[in-house]
Amino acid sequence: MKAAVYYKYGPPQVVSLAEIEKPKPADNEVLIKIFVATVNRTDSGFRSAEYFVSRFFSGLFKPKFNVLGNEFAGEVEAIGKNVTLFKVGDKVFGYNDKKFGAHAQYMTMAEDDTMATMPHILSYEQAAPLTEGAHYALCDIRAAKVQSGQNVLVNGATGAIGSAAVQLLKFFGANVTAVCNTANVDLVKSLGADAVIDYTKQDFTKLNATFDFVFDAVGKSSYGKCKPLLTKNGLYISTELGKNGENILLALTTYIRW
Ligand SMILES: NC(=O)c1ccc[n+]([C@@H]2O[C@H](COP(=O)([O-])OP(=O)(O)OC[C@H]3O[C@@H](n4cnc5c(N)ncnc54)[C@H](OP(=O)(O)O)[C@@H]3O)[C@@H](O)[C@H]2O)c1
Repeated sequence: MKAAVYYKYGPPQVVSLAEIEKPKPADNEVLIKIFVATVNRTDSGFRSAEYFVSRFFSGLFKPKFNVLGNEFAGEVEAIGKNVTLFKVGDKVFGYNDKKFGAHAQYMTMAEDDTMATMPHILSYEQAAPLTEGAHYALCDIRAAKVQSGQNVLVNGATGAIGSAAVQLLKFFGANVTAVCNTANVDLVKSLGADAVIDYTKQDFTKLNATFDFVFDAVGKSSYGKCKPLLTKNGLYISTELGKNGENILLALTTYIRW
């Protein structure tokens, strides 16, 4: 089968097309014929290993996964003998950041991994890019233990993570204030935001309001600037490391809520 492969860290040019062996599903796995896969920030991070810390996941000296691709949509072509959740011909989509492999014509995945049959209303092109942003948004919302009725501010509300966060937070019953560009105000309202701040006209860190959770889904703010917006037990989470990696230090020294 054809696959986009890479054997050393570096710029996009380290990736090339190659013919490699088609994978065979283990007893608990399905073989998926990939129709659509994305190239997202996780792929780019694993390809470049720009942040050294990422090598603890991607391989210390060289990549341990030679085919990237974590968001995918496709069709089940074969199943292992113990598979019960899927059948041949099922249209599936999902997120594979354990083994990657979606930048290829075929990929295997355990049936109980992050994969589901596709809703009929979605095309392959719509289904594949849905998963990573929602994955990170849900992880952070769970970490913040958001309760119904709480006030939450989402910065970067139109991105993959931010747009999923707005919708998930509304699902969990939060009051959502969303920050975005002028062109995206209507889009963000349509996602369910209760209030929208246009960052080209207003600096959200100067708002005269407090929030139980400030979620910077695009990593453009800092804890220091957002602290005045937080309630007494309010939480700040950013999807970026912050200046000089400060968010790692802040996370390590912050009181852990169970
Ligand atoms: N921690 C992790 O493991 C992890 C994993 C994946 C991604 N990330 C990081 O999370 C961030 C978001 O990722 P993503 O995939 O959701 O990105 P994305 O889809 O590219 O979205 C970024 C969004 O940020 C908005 N934006 C840009 N400048 C802004 C500003 N100054 N203020 C407010 N919003 C602004 C843009 O919307 P407008 O058009 O409204 O400006 C855009 O829609 C990235 O920095 C990425 O590196 C972290």
